[in-house]
Amino acid sequence: MKDISIIKLLESSIPELSGEEIEGLLEIPPKPEMGDYAFPCFRLAKVLRKAPPAIAAEIKDKMTEIPPHIDEIKVEGAYINFYLKKDLMVKDILTSAISPDYGKSDEGEGKTICIDYSSPNVAKNFHVGHLRTTIIGNSLYKIYTRLGYNVERINHLGDWGTQFGKLIVAYKNWGSEEVVKEKGIEELMRLYVVFHKEAEKHPELEDEARAWFHKMELGDEEALSIWKWFVEISLIEYRRTYNLLGVDFDHFTGESFYRDMTDDVVKRLTDANLLTDSEGAKIVDLEEYDMPPCLVIKNDGSSIYATRDIAAIFYRKNTYNFSKCLYVTGQEQKLHFSQVFKVVELLGNEWAKDSLVHIPYGLVSLGGAKLSTREGNVIYAEDILNEAINKIKEIIVEKNPELPDKDEVAKTVGVGAVIFNDLYNQRIKDVSFNWDKLLNPDGETGPYVQYTYARCSSILRNIEDYNVNISDIDCSIITDPASIALVKDFGRFPDVIHEAAEKYEPSIISRYVMDVAHSFNKFYTENHINVEDTATRNARASLVVITRNIIREALSLLGIGVVEKM
Ligand code: ARG
Repeated sequence: MKDISIIKLLESSIPELSGEEIEGLLEIPPKPEMGDYAFPCFRLAKVLRKAPPAIAAEIKDKMTEIPPHIDEIKVEGAYINFYLKKDLMVKDILTSAISPDYGKSDEGEGKTICIDYSSPNVAKNFHVGHLRTTIIGNSLYKIYTRLGYNVERINHLGDWGTQFGKLIVAYKNWGSEEVVKEKGIEELMRLYVVFHKEAEKHPELEDEARAWFHKMELGDEEALSIWKWFVEISLIEYRRTYNLLGVDFDHFTGESFYRDMTDDVVKRLTDANLLTDSEGAKIVDLEEYDMPPCLVIKNDGSSIYATRDIAAIFYRKNTYNFSKCLYVTGQEQKLHFSQVFKVVELLGNEWAKDSLVHIPYGLVSLGGAKLSTREGNVIYAEDILNEAINKIKEIIVEKNPELPDKDEVAKTVGVGAVIFNDLYNQRIKDVSFNWDKLLNPDGETGPYVQYTYARCSSILRNIEDYNVNISDIDCSIITDPASIALVKDFGRFPDVIHEAAEKYEPSIISRYVMDVAHSFNKFYTENHINVEDTATRNARASLVVITRNIIREALSLLGIGVVEKM
């Protein structure tokens, strides 16, 4: 929460800077001794041609009408430090933070954001990379929804392309309905491998595969019905993973959805004189923009991944009128999206510049983690989640055998641990998998935060009676550094959500909720909650109630649930 009256005060004393610039510069100091807010004067030194400390002193002298909630203003080197009257600050923050709508905003009202995420490739396993896009995309969906945006969740399945021709050939030659039904994706992947082995010896198989895909494109009934079946088989498995994660979509519109729209793309590009023939293929030359050409039609006349992405952009713009369309994929697709976005822009769409955004993320490194693999050493996301759940279950059975609903708790905590581990660092960084680390309830982990939540619930269950009506609470009781630090953390929540959305960065929320949990546990070690004195009990209980609410809300923005006991 930025203090508007401090910004106004500074604004009236610094004509060289706008209110917005001042807001951007105003800091919350790392240590409470340095004040509640600090304004650095380095930036002004260039404009005013004076040393920053002298500028700070001059600005301070100019401030005469000091708002009543400010206790003191001190100049410390190049900084102007503001000290607030603690009881007023606490009251202010608690009054906002107790509301169930705390952190909600209407900044997104009337705006739509499309998020294209997860999007696995049909007939291939849902692996750890797709786990990341699913987790990040889902968190962005929650964050934008909290800010009042309408969000369209789109699963752009990789369900079209020549690989399906190969799969049909393999299925017809070496597959059987029973085995596919029984083994699902695992069998489809095996068939794909068999095709490639056989095609090395019998290259004519490649022509056969092309012919089958061509049949699909022409709408051949047999070809389409086999393909559809492969899609369904795959979706059954993907849905199991989505259910474990609690992730859903508004649209399962994969690449095949756009197959009849690619002609229109070619027509638009032709009309705009952007297509060049290149050895029988059609490309858009992007040399001027330092990129290799964007291939649109292959020399066999078929469209490709990029063509369908261009078609999808027009479809989404027309259908959802998005203000932004976000694409969550690995970094290796950076060039692909730069090319696709450029082509759309070159077709006379200025909006493409700001509203199409690629959101890359780092790799998953398995380090020394022992993860169960299936045939061909393939790691399934589903297996990882189940492994986490089982490991948590073992811990519960050992440490807390009386706990009711063990399976539910193990699911929420196990899946939560995997999600938290994924979202705890900036998304562009690689994620490593270390079971002991990511499940450790004393580490910087999901279980630690969930445990803090359960602790809040248990404290509140054990207090006989308390009243957290903030207007009745005597905030002058809350003075110790641990309590003040916790209250200040409460105050940051709305800005944190806003910043996470602006930077497409869920880690800003996971770091924040970790701060809240740490601050709470320090507060709890130093303060008894269930004390005789009613006023003190109410004041402290209100901090427990708000901590509990904020942890629950912040975790839900990450796609993680909470448990009352663990
Ligand atoms: N199916 C692709 C893959 O697994 C991701 C699709 C991302 N979305 C898009 N519109 N291209 O790599």
